[in-house]
Amino acid sequence: MAEMIIKGGNRLFGEVNISGAKNAVLPILGAMAGMRGRAVLYNCPHITDVYVSMEIIRFLGGEISLKEGVAEVLPENIHICSIPEDPGSKMRSSITFCGGLLGRFGKVSFYPPGGCVLGKRPIDLHIKGFKALGAEISEENNMITAKGELKGAEIALGFPSVGATQNIMIAACFAQGTTVIENPSLEPETEELMKYLNICGGDIKKDEGRFIIKGVSELRAKPYSIMSDRIEAGTFMLGAAMTGGKLSLRGIRRDEVGSVCDILMRAGCDIKEDREGVVIKAVERPRAIGEITTGPYPAFPTDLQPQLTAMLSVAAGKSVVRETVFENRDRHIGELIKLGADIKEEGGYFVINGIKALRSGCVVCHDLRGGAAMLMAALAAKGESRLKNAEYIFRGYENIDKKIRDIGGIAEITDKD
Ligand code: UD1
Repeated sequence: MAEMIIKGGNRLFGEVNISGAKNAVLPILGAMAGMRGRAVLYNCPHITDVYVSMEIIRFLGGEISLKEGVAEVLPENIHICSIPEDPGSKMRSSITFCGGLLGRFGKVSFYPPGGCVLGKRPIDLHIKGFKALGAEISEENNMITAKGELKGAEIALGFPSVGATQNIMIAACFAQGTTVIENPSLEPETEELMKYLNICGGDIKKDEGRFIIKGVSELRAKPYSIMSDRIEAGTFMLGAAMTGGKLSLRGIRRDEVGSVCDILMRAGCDIKEDREGVVIKAVERPRAIGEITTGPYPAFPTDLQPQLTAMLSVAAGKSVVRETVFENRDRHIGELIKLGADIKEEGGYFVINGIKALRSGCVVCHDLRGGAAMLMAALAAKGESRLKNAEYIFRGYENIDKKIRDIGGIAEITDKD
Protein backbone atom coordinates (compact mmCIF):
# COMPACT_ATOMS: atom_id res chain seq x y z
CA MET A 1 0.00 0.00 0.00
CA ALA A 2 1.35 3.41 -0.88
CA GLU A 3 0.36 6.88 0.14
CA MET A 4 1.17 10.11 -1.66
CA ILE A 5 1.45 13.40 0.16
CA ILE A 6 0.71 16.38 -2.03
CA LYS A 7 1.19 20.03 -1.16
CA GLY A 8 -1.13 21.69 -3.62
CA GLY A 9 -1.71 25.19 -4.86
CA ASN A 10 1.23 25.63 -7.28
CA ARG A 11 0.69 26.17 -10.99
CA LEU A 12 2.08 23.25 -13.02
CA PHE A 13 4.72 24.82 -15.20
CA GLY A 14 7.48 23.34 -17.40
CA GLU A 15 8.18 20.29 -19.53
CA VAL A 16 6.97 16.71 -19.22
CA ASN A 17 8.41 13.87 -21.28
CA ILE A 18 5.49 11.62 -22.12
CA SER A 19 6.23 7.91 -21.57
CA GLY A 20 5.42 4.93 -23.77
CA ALA A 21 1.72 4.06 -23.81
CA LYS A 22 0.56 1.53 -21.25
CA ASN A 23 -2.34 0.48 -23.44
CA ALA A 24 -0.05 -0.08 -26.42
CA VAL A 25 2.76 -1.95 -24.70
CA LEU A 26 0.49 -4.34 -22.75
CA PRO A 27 -1.18 -6.02 -25.77
CA ILE A 28 2.20 -6.09 -27.55
CA LEU A 29 3.72 -7.93 -24.58
CA GLY A 30 0.64 -10.18 -24.57
CA ALA A 31 1.14 -10.94 -28.27
CA MET A 32 4.71 -12.07 -27.50
CA ALA A 33 3.21 -15.32 -26.19
CA GLY A 34 2.53 -16.25 -29.82
CA MET A 35 5.93 -15.25 -31.18
CA ARG A 36 9.31 -16.75 -31.85
CA GLY A 37 12.57 -14.80 -32.14
CA ARG A 38 13.70 -11.84 -30.06
CA ALA A 39 12.26 -8.36 -29.60
CA VAL A 40 13.73 -5.15 -28.31
CA LEU A 41 10.98 -2.73 -27.33
CA TYR A 42 12.01 0.90 -26.94
CA ASN A 43 10.06 3.52 -24.98
CA CYS A 44 8.70 0.80 -22.69
CA PRO A 45 7.32 2.45 -19.52
CA HIS A 46 8.43 1.33 -16.04
CA ILE A 47 4.94 0.86 -14.60
CA THR A 48 3.42 -1.86 -12.44
CA ASP A 49 1.26 -3.29 -15.26
CA VAL A 50 4.38 -3.85 -17.36
CA TYR A 51 6.04 -5.60 -14.39
CA VAL A 52 3.00 -7.90 -14.14
CA SER A 53 3.30 -8.71 -17.88
CA MET A 54 6.99 -9.49 -17.33
CA GLU A 55 6.07 -11.90 -14.53
CA ILE A 56 3.61 -13.65 -16.84
CA ILE A 57 6.15 -13.94 -19.69
CA ARG A 58 8.69 -15.49 -17.30
CA PHE A 59 6.08 -17.86 -15.87
CA LEU A 60 5.23 -19.05 -19.39
CA GLY A 61 8.89 -19.89 -19.98
CA GLY A 62 9.99 -16.76 -21.84
CA GLU A 63 12.69 -14.29 -20.88
CA ILE A 64 12.36 -10.54 -20.49
CA SER A 65 14.39 -7.70 -19.01
CA LEU A 66 13.63 -3.98 -18.73
CA LYS A 67 16.28 -1.33 -18.29
CA GLU A 68 15.97 2.39 -18.86
CA GLY A 69 12.93 2.04 -21.08
CA VAL A 70 14.33 -0.79 -23.20
CA ALA A 71 12.68 -4.19 -22.87
CA GLU A 72 14.42 -7.23 -24.32
CA VAL A 73 12.02 -10.11 -24.85
CA LEU A 74 12.84 -13.71 -25.78
CA PRO A 75 9.53 -15.48 -26.31
CA GLU A 76 11.14 -18.42 -28.15
CA ASN A 77 11.15 -20.74 -25.11
CA ILE A 78 7.60 -20.06 -24.03
CA HIS A 79 6.01 -23.49 -23.60
CA ILE A 80 3.49 -23.22 -20.73
CA CYS A 81 -0.04 -22.58 -21.99
CA SER A 82 -1.65 -21.71 -18.72
CA ILE A 83 -1.79 -18.26 -17.13
CA PRO A 84 -1.83 -18.60 -13.34
CA GLU A 85 -4.40 -16.83 -11.19
CA ASP A 86 -1.59 -14.83 -9.62
CA PRO A 87 -0.33 -12.70 -11.37
CA GLY A 88 -2.94 -13.17 -14.16
CA SER A 89 -5.85 -11.85 -12.12
CA LYS A 90 -3.92 -8.77 -11.00
CA MET A 91 -4.46 -7.12 -14.34
CA ARG A 92 -7.26 -7.37 -16.89
CA SER A 93 -5.00 -7.11 -19.90
CA SER A 94 -3.33 -10.43 -18.95
CA ILE A 95 -6.10 -11.84 -21.12
CA THR A 96 -4.25 -10.63 -24.24
CA PHE A 97 -1.70 -13.42 -23.64
CA CYS A 98 -4.47 -15.88 -24.50
CA GLY A 99 -4.79 -15.19 -28.23
CA GLY A 100 -1.09 -15.85 -28.87
CA LEU A 101 -0.91 -19.00 -26.73
CA LEU A 102 -4.07 -20.41 -28.30
CA GLY A 103 -2.80 -19.67 -31.80
CA ARG A 104 0.77 -20.89 -31.31
CA PHE A 105 0.07 -24.00 -29.18
CA GLY A 106 -3.60 -24.75 -29.85
CA LYS A 107 -4.45 -24.42 -26.16
CA VAL A 108 -4.67 -21.88 -23.37
CA SER A 109 -5.99 -21.98 -19.80
CA PHE A 110 -6.64 -18.84 -17.80
CA TYR A 111 -8.64 -17.36 -14.97
CA PRO A 112 -11.05 -14.48 -15.56
CA PRO A 113 -8.75 -11.48 -15.33
CA GLY A 114 -8.82 -8.73 -12.76
CA GLY A 115 -7.64 -5.13 -13.00
CA CYS A 116 -9.27 -1.97 -11.72
CA VAL A 117 -12.68 -2.53 -10.18
CA LEU A 118 -14.89 -0.96 -12.84
CA GLY A 119 -18.17 -2.84 -12.77
CA LYS A 120 -18.64 -6.36 -14.07
CA ARG A 121 -16.07 -6.26 -16.89
CA PRO A 122 -17.12 -9.57 -18.51
CA ILE A 123 -15.03 -11.43 -21.09
CA ASP A 124 -17.90 -12.80 -23.19
CA LEU A 125 -16.64 -11.08 -26.37
CA HIS A 126 -13.20 -12.69 -26.06
CA ILE A 127 -14.82 -16.10 -25.61
CA LYS A 128 -17.24 -15.48 -28.46
CA GLY A 129 -14.29 -14.63 -30.70
CA PHE A 130 -12.27 -17.72 -29.76
CA LYS A 131 -15.35 -19.92 -30.30
CA ALA A 132 -16.00 -18.36 -33.70
CA LEU A 133 -12.40 -19.19 -34.63
CA GLY A 134 -13.16 -22.83 -33.82
CA ALA A 135 -11.82 -23.17 -30.28
CA GLU A 136 -13.66 -25.37 -27.80
CA ILE A 137 -14.24 -23.66 -24.50
CA SER A 138 -14.56 -25.41 -21.14
CA GLU A 139 -14.54 -24.23 -17.54
CA GLU A 140 -13.48 -26.02 -14.37
CA ASN A 141 -12.99 -24.50 -10.91
CA ASN A 142 -13.18 -21.01 -12.40
CA MET A 143 -10.37 -21.82 -14.88
CA ILE A 144 -11.29 -21.39 -18.53
CA THR A 145 -9.65 -23.52 -21.22
CA ALA A 146 -9.80 -22.81 -24.95
CA LYS A 147 -8.39 -25.36 -27.37
CA GLY A 148 -8.43 -26.36 -30.98
CA GLU A 149 -7.01 -25.52 -34.37
CA LEU A 150 -8.20 -22.12 -35.47
CA LYS A 151 -10.02 -21.32 -38.71
CA GLY A 152 -10.76 -17.86 -40.06
CA ALA A 153 -14.26 -16.51 -39.38
CA GLU A 154 -16.43 -13.40 -39.59
CA ILE A 155 -16.82 -11.98 -36.09
CA ALA A 156 -19.12 -9.06 -35.35
CA LEU A 157 -18.55 -7.59 -31.90
CA GLY A 158 -21.64 -6.35 -30.08
CA PHE A 159 -19.45 -3.62 -28.53
CA PRO A 160 -16.07 -2.47 -29.89
CA SER A 161 -14.16 -3.90 -26.91
CA VAL A 162 -10.49 -2.94 -26.99
CA GLY A 163 -9.22 -6.13 -25.35
CA ALA A 164 -11.49 -8.49 -27.30
CA THR A 165 -10.52 -6.92 -30.65
CA GLN A 166 -6.82 -7.22 -29.78
CA ASN A 167 -7.09 -10.78 -28.50
CA ILE A 168 -9.06 -11.98 -31.52
CA MET A 169 -6.65 -10.13 -33.84
CA ILE A 170 -3.66 -11.92 -32.32
CA ALA A 171 -5.35 -15.35 -32.38
CA ALA A 172 -6.58 -14.83 -35.96
CA CYS A 173 -2.97 -14.42 -37.16
CA PHE A 174 -2.65 -18.17 -36.52
CA ALA A 175 -6.00 -19.22 -38.02
CA GLN A 176 -6.25 -20.96 -41.37
CA GLY A 177 -7.79 -18.56 -43.87
CA THR A 178 -9.20 -15.08 -43.35
CA THR A 179 -10.86 -13.51 -40.32
CA VAL A 180 -12.92 -10.34 -40.42
CA ILE A 181 -13.63 -8.41 -37.21
CA GLU A 182 -16.66 -6.17 -37.61
CA ASN A 183 -17.34 -3.31 -35.19
CA PRO A 184 -13.84 -3.55 -33.69
CA SER A 185 -12.00 -1.18 -31.39
CA LEU A 186 -10.38 1.51 -33.54
CA GLU A 187 -8.36 2.93 -30.66
CA PRO A 188 -4.88 4.09 -31.76
CA GLU A 189 -3.39 1.43 -29.46
CA THR A 190 -5.27 -1.29 -31.38
CA GLU A 191 -3.85 0.09 -34.63
CA GLU A 192 -0.43 0.10 -32.99
CA LEU A 193 -0.85 -3.61 -32.25
CA MET A 194 -1.87 -4.22 -35.87
CA LYS A 195 1.23 -2.35 -37.05
CA TYR A 196 3.48 -4.37 -34.77
CA LEU A 197 1.92 -7.72 -35.71
CA ASN A 198 2.41 -6.85 -39.39
CA ILE A 199 6.09 -6.02 -38.76
CA CYS A 200 6.38 -9.46 -37.12
CA GLY A 201 4.99 -11.25 -40.19
CA GLY A 202 1.24 -10.78 -39.73
CA ASP A 203 -1.10 -9.89 -42.57
CA ILE A 204 -3.73 -7.50 -41.18
CA LYS A 205 -5.54 -4.71 -42.97
CA LYS A 206 -7.96 -2.10 -41.76
CA ASP A 207 -10.75 -1.65 -44.27
CA GLU A 208 -13.82 0.55 -43.79
CA GLY A 209 -13.75 0.23 -40.05
CA ARG A 210 -13.15 -3.54 -39.96
CA PHE A 211 -10.02 -5.60 -39.57
CA ILE A 212 -9.21 -8.26 -42.15
CA ILE A 213 -6.67 -10.76 -40.88
CA LYS A 214 -5.09 -13.45 -43.03
CA GLY A 215 -3.54 -16.36 -41.17
CA VAL A 216 0.25 -16.74 -41.43
CA SER A 217 2.58 -19.62 -40.56
CA GLU A 218 4.36 -17.85 -37.69
CA LEU A 219 5.04 -14.50 -36.04
CA ARG A 220 8.64 -13.50 -35.31
CA ALA A 221 9.22 -10.81 -32.67
CA LYS A 222 10.94 -7.68 -34.02
CA PRO A 223 12.32 -4.43 -32.56
CA TYR A 224 9.79 -1.66 -32.06
CA SER A 225 9.40 1.71 -30.40
CA ILE A 226 6.17 2.06 -28.42
CA MET A 227 3.95 5.07 -29.18
CA SER A 228 3.55 7.79 -26.55
CA ASP A 229 0.81 7.61 -23.96
CA ARG A 230 -2.07 9.90 -24.96
CA ILE A 231 -3.81 9.26 -21.62
CA GLU A 232 -0.75 10.33 -19.63
CA ALA A 233 -0.48 13.44 -21.82
CA GLY A 234 -4.18 14.20 -21.36
CA THR A 235 -3.87 13.79 -17.59
CA PHE A 236 -1.08 16.39 -17.43
CA MET A 237 -2.99 18.73 -19.75
CA LEU A 238 -6.04 18.57 -17.50
CA GLY A 239 -3.74 19.14 -14.50
CA ALA A 240 -2.36 22.27 -16.19
CA ALA A 241 -5.92 23.48 -16.85
CA MET A 242 -6.89 22.96 -13.18
CA THR A 243 -3.90 24.85 -11.81
CA GLY A 244 -3.76 27.72 -14.33
CA GLY A 245 -0.41 26.39 -15.51
CA LYS A 246 1.59 26.05 -18.71
CA LEU A 247 3.06 22.74 -19.80
CA SER A 248 5.06 21.51 -22.77
CA LEU A 249 4.33 17.86 -23.36
CA ARG A 250 7.27 16.35 -25.18
CA GLY A 251 6.89 13.39 -27.51
CA ILE A 252 3.18 13.60 -28.27
CA ARG A 253 1.41 14.99 -31.33
CA ARG A 254 -1.69 17.13 -31.19
CA ASP A 255 -3.71 14.68 -33.29
CA GLU A 256 -3.00 11.99 -30.68
CA VAL A 257 -4.72 14.07 -28.00
CA GLY A 258 -7.32 15.65 -30.30
CA SER A 259 -10.44 15.07 -28.22
CA VAL A 260 -8.90 16.42 -25.02
CA CYS A 261 -7.52 19.45 -26.92
CA ASP A 262 -11.04 20.23 -28.20
CA ILE A 263 -12.43 20.15 -24.66
CA LEU A 264 -9.58 22.19 -23.20
CA MET A 265 -10.03 24.85 -25.87
CA ARG A 266 -13.74 24.99 -25.02
CA ALA A 267 -12.59 25.52 -21.41
CA GLY A 268 -10.51 28.52 -22.55
CA CYS A 269 -7.01 27.02 -22.75
CA ASP A 270 -4.59 27.89 -25.52
CA ILE A 271 -3.04 24.88 -27.24
CA LYS A 272 -0.21 24.87 -29.74
CA GLU A 273 1.92 22.25 -31.35
CA ASP A 274 5.63 22.65 -31.93
CA ARG A 275 8.30 20.31 -33.25
CA GLU A 276 8.72 18.53 -29.94
CA GLY A 277 5.14 18.19 -28.82
CA VAL A 278 2.09 20.01 -27.54
CA VAL A 279 2.06 23.17 -25.43
CA ILE A 280 -0.93 24.05 -23.24
CA LYS A 281 -1.35 27.43 -21.64
CA ALA A 282 -4.25 27.55 -19.25
CA VAL A 283 -6.38 30.51 -18.19
CA GLU A 284 -6.67 31.59 -14.54
CA ARG A 285 -9.85 29.54 -14.16
CA PRO A 286 -11.23 27.13 -16.80
CA ARG A 287 -14.77 27.57 -18.15
CA ALA A 288 -17.45 24.87 -17.95
CA ILE A 289 -17.80 22.94 -21.20
CA GLY A 290 -21.48 22.00 -21.42
CA GLU A 291 -22.02 18.30 -22.00
CA ILE A 292 -19.58 15.51 -22.90
CA THR A 293 -20.06 11.77 -23.34
CA THR A 294 -17.30 9.17 -23.20
CA GLY A 295 -17.22 6.39 -25.80
CA PRO A 296 -15.08 4.18 -28.00
CA TYR A 297 -12.52 6.01 -30.17
CA PRO A 298 -12.80 8.65 -31.60
CA ALA A 299 -15.18 9.78 -28.80
CA PHE A 300 -13.75 11.26 -25.60
CA PRO A 301 -11.78 8.47 -23.84
CA THR A 302 -13.22 6.96 -20.69
CA ASP A 303 -9.64 6.80 -19.37
CA LEU A 304 -9.65 10.61 -19.09
CA GLN A 305 -13.17 10.96 -17.69
CA PRO A 306 -12.17 11.06 -13.99
CA GLN A 307 -9.41 13.63 -14.64
CA LEU A 308 -11.82 15.71 -16.76
CA THR A 309 -14.47 15.53 -14.03
CA ALA A 310 -11.86 16.77 -11.53
CA MET A 311 -10.98 19.69 -13.83
CA LEU A 312 -14.64 20.62 -14.35
CA SER A 313 -15.21 20.65 -10.59
CA VAL A 314 -13.26 23.95 -10.50
CA ALA A 315 -14.49 25.36 -13.84
CA ALA A 316 -16.76 28.40 -13.93
CA GLY A 317 -20.29 27.16 -14.62
CA LYS A 318 -22.13 23.89 -15.00
CA SER A 319 -20.93 20.85 -17.00
CA VAL A 320 -22.40 17.42 -17.53
CA VAL A 321 -20.27 14.31 -18.04
CA ARG A 322 -21.81 11.04 -19.15
CA GLU A 323 -19.83 7.81 -18.77
CA THR A 324 -20.97 5.13 -21.21
CA VAL A 325 -18.07 2.65 -21.30
CA PHE A 326 -17.78 1.44 -17.69
CA GLU A 327 -20.71 1.19 -15.35
CA ASN A 328 -18.72 1.83 -12.15
CA ARG A 329 -16.31 4.47 -13.30
CA ASP A 330 -17.66 6.88 -10.71
CA ARG A 331 -15.82 6.14 -7.51
CA HIS A 332 -13.76 9.33 -7.81
CA ILE A 333 -16.96 11.38 -7.51
CA GLY A 334 -17.33 10.73 -3.77
CA GLU A 335 -13.63 11.53 -3.29
CA LEU A 336 -13.90 14.83 -5.19
CA ILE A 337 -16.91 15.71 -3.04
CA LYS A 338 -14.71 15.18 0.05
CA LEU A 339 -12.55 18.03 -1.32
CA GLY A 340 -15.60 20.26 -1.66
CA ALA A 341 -16.67 19.56 -5.27
CA ASP A 342 -20.34 20.05 -6.12
CA ILE A 343 -21.20 16.99 -8.24
CA LYS A 344 -24.47 15.10 -8.46
CA GLU A 345 -24.94 11.73 -10.11
CA GLU A 346 -28.20 11.43 -11.99
CA GLY A 347 -28.76 8.22 -13.96
CA GLY A 348 -25.26 7.80 -15.39
CA TYR A 349 -24.73 11.56 -15.70
CA PHE A 350 -22.40 13.56 -13.48
CA VAL A 351 -23.74 17.08 -13.10
CA ILE A 352 -20.88 19.33 -12.03
CA ASN A 353 -21.36 22.84 -10.72
CA GLY A 354 -17.84 24.27 -10.72
CA ILE A 355 -16.64 25.79 -7.45
CA LYS A 356 -13.85 28.38 -7.18
CA ALA A 357 -11.35 26.06 -5.50
CA LEU A 358 -11.12 22.59 -4.01
CA ARG A 359 -9.86 22.23 -0.45
CA SER A 360 -7.11 19.82 0.54
CA GLY A 361 -7.92 16.62 2.40
CA CYS A 362 -7.42 12.88 2.72
CA VAL A 363 -8.81 10.85 -0.18
CA VAL A 364 -8.68 7.33 -1.53
CA CYS A 365 -7.66 6.10 -4.99
CA HIS A 366 -10.11 3.38 -6.03
CA ASP A 367 -8.64 2.67 -9.46
CA LEU A 368 -5.88 3.87 -11.80
CA ARG A 369 -7.53 6.81 -13.57
CA GLY A 370 -9.65 7.75 -10.57
CA GLY A 371 -6.36 7.93 -8.66
CA ALA A 372 -4.86 10.18 -11.33
CA ALA A 373 -7.91 12.45 -11.03
CA MET A 374 -7.44 12.71 -7.26
CA LEU A 375 -3.75 13.47 -7.76
CA MET A 376 -4.56 16.38 -10.08
CA ALA A 377 -7.30 17.57 -7.70
CA ALA A 378 -4.86 17.49 -4.79
CA LEU A 379 -2.30 19.48 -6.81
CA ALA A 380 -4.96 22.13 -7.46
CA ALA A 381 -6.14 22.35 -3.84
CA LYS A 382 -4.11 24.64 -1.55
CA GLY A 383 -2.57 22.84 1.42
CA GLU A 384 -1.58 19.27 2.19
CA SER A 385 -3.57 16.32 0.82
CA ARG A 386 -3.04 12.62 1.37
CA LEU A 387 -3.82 10.04 -1.33
CA LYS A 388 -4.38 6.57 0.05
CA ASN A 389 -3.96 3.47 -2.18
CA ALA A 390 -1.74 5.51 -4.48
CA GLU A 391 -0.26 2.26 -5.83
CA TYR A 392 -3.14 2.23 -8.33
CA ILE A 393 -1.55 5.27 -9.96
CA PHE A 394 1.79 3.45 -10.43
CA ARG A 395 0.00 0.87 -12.62
CA GLY A 396 -0.08 3.40 -15.44
CA TYR A 397 2.06 6.47 -14.70
CA GLU A 398 5.84 6.21 -14.87
CA ASN A 399 7.87 8.16 -12.28
CA ILE A 400 4.80 10.19 -11.48
CA ASP A 401 6.17 11.83 -8.30
CA LYS A 402 9.36 12.96 -10.04
CA LYS A 403 7.49 14.23 -13.10
CA ILE A 404 5.25 16.30 -10.83
CA ARG A 405 8.16 17.74 -8.87
CA ASP A 406 9.88 18.69 -12.16
CA ILE A 407 6.91 20.92 -13.06
CA GLY A 408 6.60 22.67 -9.73
CA GLY A 409 4.21 20.38 -7.87
CA ILE A 410 5.06 18.97 -4.46
CA ALA A 411 4.50 15.22 -4.27
CA GLU A 412 6.10 12.54 -2.10
CA ILE A 413 5.42 8.84 -1.93
CA THR A 414 5.62 7.77 1.70
CA ASP A 415 5.04 4.08 1.66
CA LYS A 416 6.05 2.59 -1.68
CA ASP A 417 6.11 -1.20 -1.60
C1 UD1 B 1 -9.01 -1.15 -22.44
C2 UD1 B 1 -7.95 -0.31 -21.78
C3 UD1 B 1 -8.55 0.52 -20.67
C4 UD1 B 1 -9.73 1.34 -21.20
C5 UD1 B 1 -10.70 0.46 -21.96
C6 UD1 B 1 -11.80 1.25 -22.67
C7 UD1 B 1 -5.95 -1.59 -22.07
C8 UD1 B 1 -4.86 -2.38 -21.45
N1 UD1 B 1 -6.91 -1.16 -21.27
O1 UD1 B 1 -9.53 -2.02 -21.45
O2 UD1 B 1 -7.55 1.40 -20.17
O3 UD1 B 1 -10.41 1.93 -20.12
O4 UD1 B 1 -10.03 -0.31 -22.96
O5 UD1 B 1 -11.24 2.18 -23.53
O6 UD1 B 1 -5.92 -1.30 -23.25
N2 UD1 B 1 -16.90 -5.74 -22.31
C9 UD1 B 1 -17.85 -6.74 -22.36
N3 UD1 B 1 -17.44 -7.99 -22.77
C10 UD1 B 1 -16.16 -8.27 -23.10
C11 UD1 B 1 -15.20 -7.23 -23.06
C12 UD1 B 1 -15.60 -5.98 -22.66
O7 UD1 B 1 -19.02 -6.52 -22.06
O8 UD1 B 1 -15.87 -9.42 -23.45
C13 UD1 B 1 -17.31 -4.39 -21.85
C14 UD1 B 1 -16.59 -4.03 -20.54
O9 UD1 B 1 -17.29 -4.56 -19.43
C15 UD1 B 1 -16.63 -2.53 -20.57
C16 UD1 B 1 -16.52 -2.23 -22.07
O10 UD1 B 1 -16.86 -3.42 -22.75
O11 UD1 B 1 -17.84 -2.05 -20.06
C17 UD1 B 1 -15.14 -1.77 -22.49
O12 UD1 B 1 -14.21 -2.78 -22.22
P1 UD1 B 1 -12.93 -3.02 -23.15
O13 UD1 B 1 -13.01 -2.12 -24.32
O14 UD1 B 1 -12.80 -4.47 -23.40
O15 UD1 B 1 -11.77 -2.53 -22.21
P2 UD1 B 1 -10.42 -3.27 -21.85
O16 UD1 B 1 -9.86 -3.90 -23.06
O17 UD1 B 1 -10.61 -4.06 -20.62
